[in-house]
Amino acid sequence: MNKDGKHLAINGGEPISNDKILIHLPNLEEDDFQSVDKAMRTTFVSGDGPECRKFEEQLATYLGVKHALFVNSATSALELAFRAKGFPAGSEVIIPDFTYTSSALGAAYNNLNLVLADVRPDNGSLDVTKLESYITSKTVAIVAVDYAGIPADMDAIEAIAAKHNLYVVHDTAQSVGSSYKGKKVGGFGDVATFSFHGTKNLTTGEGGAFVTNSDELADMVRIQREKGTDKYSFLTDNVTRGYYQYVDIGMSYVQSNINGALGISQLAKLDQMNARRAQIAEFYKKELSDIQEIDFLHIDDHVEHNWHLFGILVPPSERFWIMDALRAEGIMSNVHYTPLHQNKYYSHLGRDEDFPGAMEFYNRLLRIPIYPSLTDEQAVKVVESVKKVFK
Ligand SMILES: Cc1ncc(COP(=O)(O)O)c(C=O)c1O
Repeated sequence: MNKDGKHLAINGGEPISNDKILIHLPNLEEDDFQSVDKAMRTTFVSGDGPECRKFEEQLATYLGVKHALFVNSATSALELAFRAKGFPAGSEVIIPDFTYTSSALGAAYNNLNLVLADVRPDNGSLDVTKLESYITSKTVAIVAVDYAGIPADMDAIEAIAAKHNLYVVHDTAQSVGSSYKGKKVGGFGDVATFSFHGTKNLTTGEGGAFVTNSDELADMVRIQREKGTDKYSFLTDNVTRGYYQYVDIGMSYVQSNINGALGISQLAKLDQMNARRAQIAEFYKKELSDIQEIDFLHIDDHVEHNWHLFGILVPPSERFWIMDALRAEGIMSNVHYTPLHQNKYYSHLGRDEDFPGAMEFYNRLLRIPIYPSLTDEQAVKVVESVKKVFK
């Protein structure tokens, strides 16, 4: 790496790309516009409409699970995952230190105590070799996160959970379409929580899904996401003559019919969109593998990755300079997830030395652009820029 090279755009040289190549973009096309347009013209714009129900059915079939409940975010799905269980206040929940705040908010919102766990330094997944060391007599649940779309080691996590009788919430916010040992994520643990936020592989603008094979949990969440009412059965059965009960405490987490329509068109092309991401990822790996200072995130052979993010692991001391140098070349890159314990709200839960894996991963990670509408020409520019900055 020659940081003083005059050819580098950061030092006044010619940039590789005059147009900024963004780090992520939603893939919205004509079929999506038509789907949303059609839904709006029905004038059914409020929550839990026919398009939402159809999307839920199709999503459950795609994931191979019994219930997929469409909600307004993964954060809401995570909150519901803990609300539905009603664990005693003060029970402990194990959360990876390297994740987005929402992975912890569901438990925190339900008055549970958070215990942060270290992750693998090579891909940010829960380090299952350390997992049992966090379990105490108060532990009730583990939250497993699929960082970047790479499934966590669910066999090991489920085995540890079974041994200690723990509830498993699989935070699949980033991994829609990924598989673990030939099975789509969504069917692992007790509950899986997906995000359909604008940055995700499948987007409904904002949105998420609470996914489970448990009839009992699904029945509770149908009520809790709809202000504690049994309106869901009233809408489907149509035998209660406009009358429904307020049966529980709840929140309003249902989604508009318009978002449901977008979910349907996005899901129809999800595999195709993920295949394009995989093509770009293969190209990056082929072109960048001979740069000594770069490693890629570890992916086990039994994992099929949806390539939500493409991360490179770079020398920690140069990380921010590399980011600035790439930006000057016209390529947006980004660091990710300040470990939870480094944030104000979570700072009482540990110090840097308690999480060597999370610290190493965080200090080395840089994300580069990957999304279905990234053109071959743009992917070439990303590669040229990374090579230029490193050589
Ligand atoms: C791991 C993880 N969990 C949860 C969320 C929250 O998703 P949402 O924005 O749909 O609430 C995100 C968002 O990026 C995430 O990355």
